[in-house]
Amino acid sequence: MWKKILGLGASKEEKDLVALYDRIPKDRRPRHVAIIMDGNGRWAEGQGLLRTAGHAQGVKTLERIMETCVDLGIEVLTVYAFSTENWKRPRPEVDFLMNLFSEYLDKKIEKMDANHVRLRFLGREDGMSGMLVQKMHAAEGRLAKNDGMIFNIAANYGGQDEILRAVQTLAARAAKGEIAPEDIDEKVFEAALDTADDPPVDLVIRTSGDLRLSNFLLWQAAYAEFWFTKTNWPDFTPEEFVDALVDFAHRKRRFGGLDPSGK
Ligand code: IPE
Ligand code: IPE
Ligand code: MG
Repeated sequence: MWKKILGLGASKEEKDLVALYDRIPKDRRPRHVAIIMDGNGRWAEGQGLLRTAGHAQGVKTLERIMETCVDLGIEVLTVYAFSTENWKRPRPEVDFLMNLFSEYLDKKIEKMDANHVRLRFLGREDGMSGMLVQKMHAAEGRLAKNDGMIFNIAANYGGQDEILRAVQTLAARAAKGEIAPEDIDEKVFEAALDTADDPPVDLVIRTSGDLRLSNFLLWQAAYAEFWFTKTNWPDFTPEEFVDALVDFAHRKRRFGGLDPSGK
């Protein structure tokens, strides 16, 4: 990336990327971006392909957007890969998605490491195969030493489920006398969530036209800005991602207070 920044020996594509990134005001970039990667099935159906072909194509988009986030110095990227509700889908589709996660870890770990990315999975482990869970732990462990972007993959994740698990953890600690119920404040509660230590979500992006959260990061997105596009996830590009960040940069975030400019 330094080559791109200095413009030294940079290729045309690299220079184009720098021009693209320069569209976003530097001091108004989000720290934590969360993406609901939706529309893989519709993309595939639109091309007369099986839904699974859309998921395979979606992985390519994820790789590009992850690298864009690294280039931009985003602190945390959280993506929604599989919800606690997605088990309702036909078994072959679920199996395909589980295989895709496994393959992603095999094929992309080196690249993530080279980008200094720290990987973390959000969500429940039960329901997933023991082999996959082992692979997820190994990947997290291998990248834990890195000091770059935190890359959260929400897999078998539901916001309500995450909150309930945090409540159970804290209730168990209270029952053992380790904490008093009145000590449970926002900080203690956040530390019990899967996203412990991450800054709150600044921006939620959802592709493919649906205008809902679908049980994603219910606590963490309390004051997030939302950005929706009709583009299906496999067609989503770094250019459109930058459009979202430019839009975010111009939002007025009041957090319940008043805007200093009086607007
Ligand atoms: C998002 O795409 C990926 C997952 C939920 C795993 P979809 O599979 O939901 O695609 P659509 O919404 O049916 O088009
Ligand atoms: C949300 O998409 C989950 C993921 C993107 C992984 P869905 O396609 O499952 O959401 P609904 O069913 O349209 O709300
Ligand atoms: Mg969907």
